[in-house]
Amino acid sequence: MKSIRVFCPATIANISCGFDVLGVALDTVGDEMVIHKVAKKGIRITKLVGQDLPLETEKNVAGVAGMALLEASGYEGGFEIEIFKNIKAGSGIGSSAASSTGAVWAMNQLLDEPFPTSKLVEFAMEGEQLASGVAHADNVAPALFGGFTLVRSYNPLDIIPINSPSELYATIIHPQIEVKTSDSRKILKTNISLKDGIKQWGNVGGLIAGLFTEDYDLIGRSLVDHIVEPIRSILIPGFNEVKTKSMEAGALGCGISGSGPSIFAFSKGESIAQEVALAMSRVYQNIQIDYDVHVSKINTQGIKILN
Ligand code: HSE
Repeated sequence: MKSIRVFCPATIANISCGFDVLGVALDTVGDEMVIHKVAKKGIRITKLVGQDLPLETEKNVAGVAGMALLEASGYEGGFEIEIFKNIKAGSGIGSSAASSTGAVWAMNQLLDEPFPTSKLVEFAMEGEQLASGVAHADNVAPALFGGFTLVRSYNPLDIIPINSPSELYATIIHPQIEVKTSDSRKILKTNISLKDGIKQWGNVGGLIAGLFTEDYDLIGRSLVDHIVEPIRSILIPGFNEVKTKSMEAGALGCGISGSGPSIFAFSKGESIAQEVALAMSRVYQNIQIDYDVHVSKINTQGIKILN
């Protein structure tokens, strides 16, 4: 095999209570990439469609993540990368993670899988380091493993795949403003109170238990963020209104997707998720901000080969 075309899913990181440790992959939103294995050494981005992003290998997240894999692999040749972006940069649904994971996953396939998925997470984190200044894994892990993932530990890296309840649907609305992850990290406090910590880890445990037991009410009760959302939500016009209207439409819970400005809600069943999409859309129609809205089942496969 010399070339491979892959679907690279969008992802929701944090999932309210799990800042930097929880994430989930989506089914209906994602990029496509074509990776060619070539004799010429190094990595070249030969095509980038859909977004205005750098083509230079060392400035592109796919290039940087790919170089990390290439150097570790000992392969003497190289790769050419074509990127077809559907996920907007700075939207909060894992645009950089889709590119860096797509590159390393496809290269690993073309080299006959020398690396386990956990190692691919490490390579892809180099791309996140370039994009946001911090090598977080909460977008790249679900893109690579599929479904929900928990980063139990960063040092050493320990990724735990989590069950995805079959009737769980995500609604994601992206108001057309850009929030850079690096900026939305700078405004966070570096210390939290013990009181907030207790509430937060209670919800993380509750969410994980709810996902494994497919207890939708418990999932909903646990989708609360006492630490990051109160600070970051001020960067997102209409956030509180979107949340209120989503809950009134029947969502289990609603919060900021990654570092925003996208907002996600989880619902039991597709029809409620569609109602939530309408309710969210009306808020941005009323305040005259353009938006994209998506309804998606949970993607349990992660990156996949397209024919
Ligand atoms: N956990 C990261 C953050 C995700 O919230 O900054 C960025 O997409």
